[in-house]
Amino acid sequence: MPNLSIISVVGARPNFMKVAPIHKAFKKYADVRHLICHTGQHYDETMSKVFFDELELPKPDFYLGVGSGSHAEQTAKIMVGFERVVTQNRPDVVIVVGDVNSTIACSLVAAKLGIPVAHIEAGLRSFDRSMPEEINRVLTDSISDFLFVTEQSGIENLKREGISEKKIHFVGNVMIDSLVHYMPKAERSDALSRFRVDPAKYIVATFHRPANVDTQEGLKLLLGFLKNIASRHRVVFPVHPRTRSNIRSFSLESSVNGQVSLSEPVGYLDFLWLMKNAALVVTDSGGIQEETTYMGVPCITIRDNTERPVTVEQGTNYLTGTNLDSAEKIARDVLSGKAKKGKIPELWDGKAAERIVEIIHKTIAENPKS
Ligand code: UD1
Ligand code: UDP
Repeated sequence: MPNLSIISVVGARPNFMKVAPIHKAFKKYADVRHLICHTGQHYDETMSKVFFDELELPKPDFYLGVGSGSHAEQTAKIMVGFERVVTQNRPDVVIVVGDVNSTIACSLVAAKLGIPVAHIEAGLRSFDRSMPEEINRVLTDSISDFLFVTEQSGIENLKREGISEKKIHFVGNVMIDSLVHYMPKAERSDALSRFRVDPAKYIVATFHRPANVDTQEGLKLLLGFLKNIASRHRVVFPVHPRTRSNIRSFSLESSVNGQVSLSEPVGYLDFLWLMKNAALVVTDSGGIQEETTYMGVPCITIRDNTERPVTVEQGTNYLTGTNLDSAEKIARDVLSGKAKKGKIPELWDGKAAERIVEIIHKTIAENPKS
């Protein structure tokens, strides 16, 4: 009979694959009721529902339906909705993942209501406060009670910020848990034939960072870069809704040619399979840097910094900055067979969620709330 209750928060695309293994891992604990709150930050079928289906997540217990808006608007709406959920349900712990607006909004609500907060993917730092995610990371970590870290740099960053070592747990990477678990299913994807590409003969692209896609000039350069590298390898580019709406409003549809296939965002299983078979991935995503490192697929990250340095230091990721000439040069080297060989970072073994729920369960079972 469950006497402990835990609410995990999901909101945006990269949250679903992080919470799915946590949900599975809690099934082993008969005394825990694990509930899911979806804020509705992402709401398109291709940005949300497809992941619930593919990751075998149950329908969320709470749906806040906040939708899009400015940072203040979105964060505030999530906070108002989540405060109601927490007040009515008084969970023993609230779990937040990653660095999106739903992460900071819900951790702030829980912390102020005196509910312990567990932050999964704590300690990552780009040291670039112009990124909204960096502000979300620093603030969430500063009010969390459990800080679950994916790579060594996270431990150092948190200690430097004065966070007690007792709260920091190096557990590995839940996003990799999902990758390991779902790869056998992804192998049945027909995405390569749908995009009419052959293994190792194409490039996968994804871009959604405001710094890359929110100005007409920047987005035009980026699409020009894709067109250039597509001369010998086709580019498969499932387009994030932010990017899609900017391509439209800047009238840039004609900046790419037939060698660059723009599509709707694809589901998780198709996307894993597309990455796994690609000659190269070019991206500004956070999670994709980690997934490609795990799979040993070369990745070029078009950003000036990364909060995931292990993917560059040990993995297959190249951080090229936003200078597209240097990105193009590295792309040509990689495509001519000169890619660096990476290794899988410590504890990225598919078992991070088991470690996390064990730590949370032990702590709350030993310290029942009054
Ligand atoms: C958000 C996260 C970012 C994360 C990304 C993952 C924040 C501050 N940003 O960025 O860290 O890397 O998700 O994908 O939390 N839109 C739709 N349909 C949707 C969702 C969004 O059309 O289902 C459009 C709307 O025009 C919206 C825009 O995309 O205004 C941006 O959405 P938003 O959630 O604000 O930020 P993302 O760029 O998706
Ligand atoms: N992803 C997906 N379909 C796509 C693009 C990405 O399923 O069309 C997955 C990808 O495999 C990874 C996650 O979405 O698991 C990354 O999300 P995103 O790049 O939106 O966010 P970020 O990691 O940058 O915060």
